[in-house]
Amino acid sequence: MAFHALVVDDSDGARSASVQECTTDQLPDGAVEVAVRYSSLNYKDGLAVTGEGQIIRAPLPFVPGIDLVGEVTASEVEAYSPGDMVIQTGYGLGENYWGGYAQQQRLQAKHLVPLPSGLTPQEAMIIGTAGFTAMLSVMALEHAGVTPGQGEVVVTGASGGVGSTAIALLASLGYTAVASTGSENARPYLMALGADRLIPRDDLGRGPNRPLDSARWVGAVDSVGAETLAAILSQTDRRGAVAACGLAGGPDLNTTVFPFILRGVTLAGIDSNTSPQDERRTAWQRLSTDLPHEALERMLYEVVSLADVPEASRTILDGGVRGRVVVDVQAG
Ligand SMILES: NC(=O)c1ccc[n+]([C@@H]2O[C@H](COP(=O)([O-])OP(=O)(O)OC[C@H]3O[C@@H](n4cnc5c(N)ncnc54)[C@H](OP(=O)(O)O)[C@@H]3O)[C@@H](O)[C@H]2O)c1
Repeated sequence: MAFHALVVDDSDGARSASVQECTTDQLPDGAVEVAVRYSSLNYKDGLAVTGEGQIIRAPLPFVPGIDLVGEVTASEVEAYSPGDMVIQTGYGLGENYWGGYAQQQRLQAKHLVPLPSGLTPQEAMIIGTAGFTAMLSVMALEHAGVTPGQGEVVVTGASGGVGSTAIALLASLGYTAVASTGSENARPYLMALGADRLIPRDDLGRGPNRPLDSARWVGAVDSVGAETLAAILSQTDRRGAVAACGLAGGPDLNTTVFPFILRGVTLAGIDSNTSPQDERRTAWQRLSTDLPHEALERMLYEVVSLADVPEASRTILDGGVRGRVVVDVQAG
């Protein structure tokens, strides 16, 4: 069977990505075959499509796309039947195995999650890996004992995909969410999603004033890292928790042990790629119930076709994308 996919290849040392006709015999091994409805474009995908980052860990030609939602067309396992809608994010999709930028894909059953009944396929990809990461971050704060009413939870990179979903989730669960943003024009958006107040990115971005500063936060969802994360740790209250999920500001972390040994602060690492099945199912189920529909409707996103992905990849790497990019895979 023939279908279209966005294929990354190397000819004469030059990386290119173009929509090509493929056949099912080119697909990877897997017990579940899926007609992919939507994928999404994440920063990581931009790196894979342009070749600017070492994201693809398989031989070329290769189909990127770290997220997908689609309809099962054939299955060798009892758990899935034709007609079922399924999601895969991570588990090496679009990195080790051909990913979501293909109209047909073959996947491993153990990597799939059923699309929750409260979400449409397009909504699942507006959420995508970014929103899934936000949910895992909120679950990590809950696990560490952070509850609504204790104080403020700060969210950094607040206008981004992870940050904006974290704001909406925290607000709907009753937390007081403070949005740390470098985008003052995102104020109406972030307030509409449920932020209690905004602080400028530089407030935390200049780093800690001292190893232990006045306590400001009971929790944090940090998608920025570097000086910002170090500042948050120094300002986190006793028994507070910080979910470290990103590196929009850089990968370094210069801190001390004082927040941990004098205030019992928890630093929780979030890795959406290898999140285990039970946690994954819980997170997607909760995204369908805890993320209010009004928030999903407010979320910034655009829909592009497979053919648009190379140009959109350039734009996302240049910092020109606001909100999420959903890829309508069947639009070719
Ligand atoms: N751990 C995981 O499994 C996982 C999964 C997905 C993503 N991530 C990581 O999480 C981060 C956020 O992902 P995303 O999808 O939300 O990306 P995004 O949509 O591009 O958002 C990132 C946000 O960070 C802020 N920002 C951008 N450049 C910055 C800088 N130089 N210094 C400080 N803040 C900056 C901006 O928000 P403001 O303008 O509001 O400040 C921007 O909207 C990325 O580093 C990504 O790689 C990790």
